[in-house]
Amino acid sequence: MKVPFVNPVRNYHLIKEEIDAAYHDVMEKGDYIDRGHLKNFEDNLAKFVGTKYAVGLNSGYDALQVSLRALGIGPGDEVIVPAHTFVASCSAIPNVGAAPVLVDVAKDFNIDVTKIEEVITNKTKAIMPVHLSGWMADMPVIMEIAKKYNLYIVEDACQSLGSSINGKGAGAWGNTGCFSFYPFKILGGYGDGGAITTDDENIAFFAKRIRYNGEDRDSGEYYMHGFTCLLDNLQAAFLDVKLKHFPKWIKRRKEVAQKYYEGLNHLPDLLLPHYNVPGFDHVYQNYTVRSKQGNEFSDYLKKNGIGVLTQFRKPYYKHKGLNLIDRGFPETEALSREVCSLPMNVEIFDEEIDYVIKVVRSFYGK
Ligand SMILES: Cc1ncc(COP(=O)(O)O)c(C=O)c1O
Repeated sequence: MKVPFVNPVRNYHLIKEEIDAAYHDVMEKGDYIDRGHLKNFEDNLAKFVGTKYAVGLNSGYDALQVSLRALGIGPGDEVIVPAHTFVASCSAIPNVGAAPVLVDVAKDFNIDVTKIEEVITNKTKAIMPVHLSGWMADMPVIMEIAKKYNLYIVEDACQSLGSSINGKGAGAWGNTGCFSFYPFKILGGYGDGGAITTDDENIAFFAKRIRYNGEDRDSGEYYMHGFTCLLDNLQAAFLDVKLKHFPKWIKRRKEVAQKYYEGLNHLPDLLLPHYNVPGFDHVYQNYTVRSKQGNEFSDYLKKNGIGVLTQFRKPYYKHKGLNLIDRGFPETEALSREVCSLPMNVEIFDEEIDYVIKVVRSFYGK
């Protein structure tokens, strides 16, 4: 049997009629840029996350860099970011002229909140917690630190739409929440896409203008040198269809995770992503396990027809071209050798989950 990491064509067929209808609606109206479909999706996304505003942009990366600009962060400022994340979280910081300050992660792959205060200086302006794989960073503690030191929070929620802590959604805690709709994200479009969520009217205005070359579309006034980085109307129409299915799809992800848990719990040398922190809700964009056997484990799965991801064997700060300061991040280094994400998506069949479990167990001689 072959079990791909994701199965985009099967996913499309789950909702083909609605996606095709959305496509025809956009095409028959000729509505490509900044029209009703975008506005509707933004309204629905804000409602879903629990913020007053959502602004559609063309990527998660742009959501991050626009957030930093909206908060006035630039040269001379420092921003705290985890050592283990997708490189775009960090890249947004030097790209606005500020300095990233890396902090190691904890066992749950998210920023180690006990290590944040030791890197705060008088240049620190913001913390960028990243909610990896559908599991949120410890926002109650991070919000306290931010309050104590008067820092902004830019939540990188690119992997965690739908997750929450004590009922408050990812993307609703910080000054902004940043989302990616890259096709294989938990809510994925059919190309790149992203959004900022916020309760701050000024940030929402800033993002709406900067995405349109700095222009206020009502008055025609240019407020800043901006970019062309809107979420396409067509992608917004598709995402709006998928958002309707999203609560049901989160349930399915939790079901898949539970099946993995039941099949793989208690295996020696294999750590599963179940943390059981009261109030925290895992939505499992990814099901990332840690195997002491590292590549030997992931290669065995691949050899047996299972699509896995082994991000990121080489931590991003070890890439010379990025010019980052490596202060030594032992947890990031340990997990980088061990991580392996198993197939996790809503289109997977139960027999495929069973097969993955069987292969993993056989690796451990069970
Ligand atoms: C944690 C994280 N931050 C930022 C991004 C950037 O998003 P995008 O690829 O839409 O620019 C991604 C996804 O790629 C991500 O996983």
